[in-house]
Amino acid sequence: MMQPLILVIFGASGDLSKRKLIPAVFELFKDKLLPDNFAILGVSRTAYSDDEFRKKLFYDNEHVNFKQSDSEVQVRFASKLFYTSVQTSDIEDYVKAKDRLAELDAKYKTAGNYMFYLSTPPSLYETIPKALARHGLNQSERGWRRLVIEKPFGHDETSAKALNKALLQYFTEENLYRIDHYLGKETVQNLLVTRFGNGIFEPLWNRNYIERIEITAAESVGVKGRAGYYDKSGALKDMVQNHLLQIVSHVAMEAPINADASAIRSEKLKVFQSIRPIKKEEVAKYVIRGQYIASEIFGEMVEGYREHDDVPANSKTETYVALKFYIDNWRWAGVPFYIRTGKYLPTKVTEVVVTFKTPPHPLFKRQSEYDDQNNQLIMRIQPDEGIALQFGMKVPGQGFKVKSVNMEFHYSELIDSHLPEAYERLILDCMRGDATLYAHGESVESAWRFIDPIVEAWREDESIPVYGYPAGTWGPDIADEMIDGEGETWYNPYKALTRDVNFCVL
Ligand code: BG6
Repeated sequence: MMQPLILVIFGASGDLSKRKLIPAVFELFKDKLLPDNFAILGVSRTAYSDDEFRKKLFYDNEHVNFKQSDSEVQVRFASKLFYTSVQTSDIEDYVKAKDRLAELDAKYKTAGNYMFYLSTPPSLYETIPKALARHGLNQSERGWRRLVIEKPFGHDETSAKALNKALLQYFTEENLYRIDHYLGKETVQNLLVTRFGNGIFEPLWNRNYIERIEITAAESVGVKGRAGYYDKSGALKDMVQNHLLQIVSHVAMEAPINADASAIRSEKLKVFQSIRPIKKEEVAKYVIRGQYIASEIFGEMVEGYREHDDVPANSKTETYVALKFYIDNWRWAGVPFYIRTGKYLPTKVTEVVVTFKTPPHPLFKRQSEYDDQNNQLIMRIQPDEGIALQFGMKVPGQGFKVKSVNMEFHYSELIDSHLPEAYERLILDCMRGDATLYAHGESVESAWRFIDPIVEAWREDESIPVYGYPAGTWGPDIADEMIDGEGETWYNPYKALTRDVNFCVL
């Protein structure tokens, strides 16, 4: 049974709160997963009354799914929303939040359990915990206190360490929840179930049978509208340091001794520690960066990255990045990992493709160029979530011709498959005190340690090119040359889970 609590959202009037947090908590409420004694306190600088906050963030919020709820449910949920305005840069002003919490805690009997969610600019990540401590809100004899922090968690290893250190003054590691929303995705969690909940994959999951691993996280939109943020970040920091390396850790980790947070986190940490660093002088060889340029997509002209407002005309910020690296441990020695992500690619898709080695001695002819003899396991993170295994079958008729076929599972086929949004799962886990799907401080630091030399090389070495790629394409062609093996290229996914040579939707 879940304990009573108050969810305190800092930055409550902001974009993330509107797009993700309030809609996710409402889903949990509709699913009756929240305790009876529950309240949400929104805190931001803007002055709102409780009612104005309810209207703006809930009733008028186009991201909230009002379906499967009648007006009585909506009224009950809205009655749990409260708001207090605080000058968030002024530590003394947090007394207003403290008083309001004391009032709500007494009224709704929430036992002093507070979950603080920082949905604010990172510049407040140290100020808010400090202010909470100043007002005695970071710990209590009576209830638990947890702190959820959004990315970016630092901007390099040094700043991540400094932030961890600062936070650990006020909250213990067990009470710090660093959110990476990819870990809340059902299909990212399912990577662990596929591997460790079955007997057939794990024996093959190593350098003896696997030729390479590819991870693609493609997005079909550009960054217009958020270029101010993006230009200071770029694809490597925005997607690779966090989401993609987290996926790598799920694909590459050893079996944990059990499914507890600490067991899983310590295996993941070992993966981060074993990724072979890419030295500055190797960056040009192992990392390709790109930037989208103007192009026509479905008859419409799309502007290039440098043409957006807030982007300097000579910006070198990458909107695409592809990396090749190795994991130096017993299991993965010599197996290349390829990961890439980009904006304005042909479709929105995230997937892991495991390519197995060819049979040791080829006996049969392939029917077409697609009938490769490498079995591939495709683990689709999103959309059309599912798994497909490609393998060769005999083409009916004379001789022994082989054709690639797919064995597929789609999540949509599961009965009652409401795939919960990542934020629903993660918020609920934190409320329950389960940190399994949150990033550990040390992993975050190790991930930066891997990223930092790449960023430095790009900054210092003018000769490393930024390749332009027309918006709507799979990034710079040269990225295909990274893939080992003659004629081998990236596996370009389609919207649907499997590739049908006669039909594709981009
Ligand atoms: C965010 C990045 O963390 O993840 C965005 O800042 C990116 O740039 C987003 O678009 C992708 O998330 P999802 O869940 O849509 O794949």
